[in-house]
Order: sequence, then C-alpha cells, then structure tokens
Amino acid sequence: MNKQYILAIDTSCDDTSAAVTCDTTILSNVVASQTELHKPYGGVFPTVAKLAHSENIDRTIQVALSRAKISMTKIAAIAVTVGPGLAPALEIGISTAKKLAQEYKKPLIAVNHIEGHVISVLAKPAERTKKISTDSPQFPALSIIVSGGHTQFVLLKSLGEYQILGSTLDDAAGECLDKIGRMLNLGYPAGPIIENFAKLGDRNAYSFPLPLTTIKTFDVSFSGMKTYSRNLLQKLTAKKPLSKQEIYDFCASAQYGVFRHICYKLQKVLVDLHQKNAGNTIDLAASEIKDLQNLAIKEIWLGGGVAANMTLRKMIRQTISKYNTQIKKRTDGDPAKTNIQNSEIATFRAPISKRLCADNAAMIGIAAATKLQAGAFNDLESLERVPQLKLQ
Ligand code: KG4
Ligand code: ZN
Repeated sequence: MNKQYILAIDTSCDDTSAAVTCDTTILSNVVASQTELHKPYGGVFPTVAKLAHSENIDRTIQVALSRAKISMTKIAAIAVTVGPGLAPALEIGISTAKKLAQEYKKPLIAVNHIEGHVISVLAKPAERTKKISTDSPQFPALSIIVSGGHTQFVLLKSLGEYQILGSTLDDAAGECLDKIGRMLNLGYPAGPIIENFAKLGDRNAYSFPLPLTTIKTFDVSFSGMKTYSRNLLQKLTAKKPLSKQEIYDFCASAQYGVFRHICYKLQKVLVDLHQKNAGNTIDLAASEIKDLQNLAIKEIWLGGGVAANMTLRKMIRQTISKYNTQIKKRTDGDPAKTNIQNSEIATFRAPISKRLCADNAAMIGIAAATKLQAGAFNDLESLERVPQLKLQ
C-alpha cells in the first residue's frame, strides 16, 4: 500500500507547529516557540499569540515539508487542531489549513488537541532505535493527560473511543506549577524549573494538603494547593526572604504535593475499576460510569507538557507497581480468581521525547491517521474552531 503522508498543523496555544507524519511515524516536527514573547506576561497573551502564529505559520510549514523531504503533491491529507485552545490562536492554524486544502485539493481532518496528547505516546521516529518499543497498544488503556490547560483521566476502549473518567475541577496541574513558580519569581513556564530545583530540595520539608480524598469521583483539584502555597510563602517570608535551599525545598514539596494528588487519584481509578471487574458491588465512582463492564486496564499512558517531568513518571510507575503487587497478593493461589489476575497493568507509555510532551503538530498528525484510513474527512466550508471542545 502507498504510504499516506499527513501534513499536520497545531496553533492551539503559544507554539506554532507543523509536522509531516505517516501512520505513527514522525518525518518532521517543527515547533516555533513563542515562550520568550509571553515571558513578560507570566502566561500566554492571546492577541500576542495570534500575531506570532500568523507571522510564523507559513515558514514553519515549509520547514516541516522540507525536513521530511515531502512535497505538497505527496500529502494525502491536512490535519489541523480545531480545539480546545485559545480562539484567536486556533483561527490561524485552521485558516491556513483551509487555504492549503483548497489550493492543493487535499482533504481536511479536524483533530482534538487533547486526543493529540493522548496519542502522542504512540509516536515513533523515522529512524528506529533499539530502545523504542514497537508493540501495538493493548486496550482498554488509561491515559493521564497532564498539561498547562488540562488534567484528565481518559479511558480508551480502542483508538478513537474515549471516555473521560475524571477532570480537574479548577486549575490544571501545569497551570498550578506555573502559578507557584510565579509566586517564587522563577520565570515562565515554571514547570521545568521547579523540576530542576526540586532535585536539590527535600520534598518533605513542607507538607502540602492532599485534596479531594473524601469525594468518590476521579476528579482532581489544584486551586487549594495554590492558596496553600501563597499562605505558606507569606508566613515563611514575613521576616526574611527565602534562602536558596528553602526555595529548593519549597519546589520539591509543592511538586510532590501536585504529583501525589495525581497518583492518589490514579490509584483510586485502578482500584475502583478492579473492584467493578471483580464483580463486587461498590459505592464508588466507577459504579456510576455507564457501560463500564469487564474493563481490565492493560496499559497506562501519560501525555501533556508535564509528562516531560521525570519525577512524575517515576511516581506513576511506583503507583502502578504498588497496584500490581496488591492485585497479585489478592489473587495468588486461587484459581477461581484468575480472571482478576488479568487486571495487572502490563505497560506504561510516555512520549519518547520532551518535544512530544509539549504542544506539537506530530501528535495531531498521528491522531488523524485512523481518520485518514477511514476516509473520515471534514467539510472545508463548515470547519470551525471550537475553543471549548471536549474529547467525547
Ligand atoms: O502541553 P503543554 O505544552 O501545553 C498545554 O496544552 O497546556 O503544557 C505546558 C505545561 C506548562 O504548565 C509547563 O510548566 C509544564 O507543561 N511543563 C512541565 C515540565 N515541562 C513543561 N511541568 C513540570 N515539569 C516539566 N519538566
Ligand atoms: Zn497541549
């Protein structure tokens, strides 16, 4: 079969990105970052983002095509992010995709940005290295999206079949880290700086609260941690500014607080689903989720900007192995319970590079691949941005 190349575009937030992909293989993935432009604002300023996208988009696409050594004539379809994201920013990517689709008579595929982050774990480089797993994904899988705009637990029954199990009730995890970083004057985005400072600090120096332990849903919340940080900082700096070591300790403790909350809820999702699979009657969130039968999670996926954080990856691996040990203990030596043994998590996947964790167009191209195979194209006239687009 002929190789089907996709030209993908993402302008959902503050990065202008274009990529060429083929199924799950990345041929090029170009990102023109606007971080420096937004630094003075301590966050993304939408009109500044729009202007920078419109200045950078054509060149970014040209570079993506030339790095992939693919001309527009060889492109099978154009994929573009339609939401969620900043409306003025999305608009530039969509209008550019439409223009190219018209000029070169190519079909258009609308992609949800979150679906891109979910699928980013399947991305492979064009040159295979031994380290990269090429195993096909096993379903159902549970994807944890942790970015600057979203924090969600997404169940994948198959590729393209999503169910959101839990979401943030307020701020996203990355947003919370960025805001705490701002209180400490660390610069923007603060997530990666906090990760580095945390390596030099003691995560138990300050005890951050563990939110939402008494509610039975899989939702998360980070606004309390932000308030807790502000109050604690006020107290700590009342007499003198924080020392370097105190800043490192604060970063380590805050980061641990944010990730401990995610892992606590991950553990809850796994245990609740396991209970449901085992046929137990439960008064837990899983019992309220419809069509959730015989779903033994096989894989855990992690995506989004914060997935670049190695401490988060380590804590998720530890959560999975703790859960697997618990399951083993409960079922060992009892043949009647072998079906429950299938509940062990076999695989943990995260994107192969930091670039694939942050916003990028390659993940959009890879998410569009199944739609290209199915011929599920979007109408050029009616394609519009959907800033609040949901995954399901
Ligand atoms: O996915 P992303 O690039 O954009 C959104 O769609 O939101 O995520 C950006 C977020 C920012 O909050 C940034 O601080 C955070 O990801 N981030 C990190 C790390 N790298 C980026 N947070 C913690 N540790 C990191 N290494
Ligand atoms: Zn994103």
